[in-house]
This record gives sequence, structure tokens and C-alpha cells, in this order.
Amino acid sequence: MSMKIKTATFVKSAVVPEDYPDTGVPEIAFVGRSNVGKSSLINKMVQRKALAKTSSTPGKTRLINFFLVNGLIGFVDLPGYGYAKVSKTERESWGVMIDRFLSRRRELKGVVLIQDIRRDQADMDRKMIEMIRRHGIPLIIVLTKADKFTRGKQNERVKKIISSSELADRKPVLFSSQTGAGRDELWEAIGELIGIETDDPGMKERVNN
Ligand code: GTP
Ligand code: MG
Repeated sequence: MSMKIKTATFVKSAVVPEDYPDTGVPEIAFVGRSNVGKSSLINKMVQRKALAKTSSTPGKTRLINFFLVNGLIGFVDLPGYGYAKVSKTERESWGVMIDRFLSRRRELKGVVLIQDIRRDQADMDRKMIEMIRRHGIPLIIVLTKADKFTRGKQNERVKKIISSSELADRKPVLFSSQTGAGRDELWEAIGELIGIETDDPGMKERVNN
């Protein structure tokens, strides 16, 4: 599905549920290791250069950031994990913040877990997947920075990652924020979770407008 973006806006940042925005639209959250490319992926999905803040310094996103796409779909940029330079206390409050979000956010229809195609799944990724499953939330795995490899090497990595990882039910989506590869496929997968029938032109129109 080639999703047409009319509007993409930042709604607010929050830590505690009392501060979550009252958008009332189905929502998809994005999570992954710090510096994996979450914010870049969100920007690519909504065709905006700098809606979600990106940086070459890891650990920048410490709050839950809420965005609204076409007035109808919520995107949530969750703070990354695995950043070495955080204290134990910070790590614990991160865990509480994420766990609370997953258990309390009624609008949440799915989580996109982002991994770097060059790396094997880390312990923290497995724990994150476990947490998402425990809350019964559908999961999509994305392997980003695919542009770092040729097509042949990408396939080799996918095979290796599939055989050695905890994965979602479906195959991981290969993605590149640099080339836009995988964007349509990821929108397709998100569309399924939030109930956009891609072969229903009426519904497509409503989301596109
Ligand atoms: P934190 O919020 O700090 O945890 O990082 P993040 O996961 O949001 O990552 P961000 O989008 O800020 O990207 C981190 C770095 O990776 C930046 O230097 C990006 O330019 C680079 N990057 C992100 N996605 C891609 C990609 O698909 N390909 C390539 N080559 N580089 C990427
Ligand atoms: Mg970020």
C-alpha cells in the first residue's frame, strides 16, 4: 500500500498515562535499541524530514512521543533501550514507563520492533519481544539500514536472523530510511493491524483524506 500522507503532526511528549494525549485513534508504537533508526523510520513512513528528532548521538529520545498521521492514525516513538551510558535507576524507570504504556494504552493496536540488519538479536530485543507478547499486543519486526548491504547479503542476514531469533509470526520487513525500501510493505502490515482494508477503496480514501 502506497500510503498518501496529508498531515503528520507532533501531538505531545509524555511519561505517565495521565499525560498521554486523548487522540482516540488507533495507534502503532515503534521501539528498538537506542540509535537503531526509529525516528528516521517514522519520518520516512510519514514523508517528513524531521518530524521525529533524529541524531547521531544515541539515547536522545527519553520520552514517549506521540504523533498523528492524517488525523486518523497515531504513531508513538518510544525511547530506545540498550544505551550503555544510563544509570540503573534510569533503566528501571525506562522499564516502568514502557510496561505501563503497553498495559494501559487502549488505543495501541501493535508494536513495530526495529532491529539493525547488521546485528544479531540482542538480549534486550528478546526481553522487549517477551514484554510485548505478555501484553498480547501484535508485533511486527523490521530490519532497518538494509541499504548497508547488497540484495544477496540482505537475504543472507534475514535467514541468519530468522534462524537465531525470537520473531513475530510473519517474516521481518526489510527497511531503509535512506532509500525508502520497505515503506509500502510496512504500511501494509500496519494497515492490517489498525483495520485499514487495503483492497477497500472507500476505506483507503478515508485514510488518505
Ligand atoms: P535514539 O532515539 O537516539 O535512540 O535513536 P533512533 O533509534 O531514533 O535513531 P535515529 O533515527 O536518530 O538514527 C540514528 C542514526 O542512524 C542516524 O545517524 C541516522 O542517520 C542513521 N540511520 C537511521 N536509519 C538509517 C537507514 O535506514 N540507513 C542508514 N544508512 N542509516 C540510518
Ligand atoms: Mg529517536
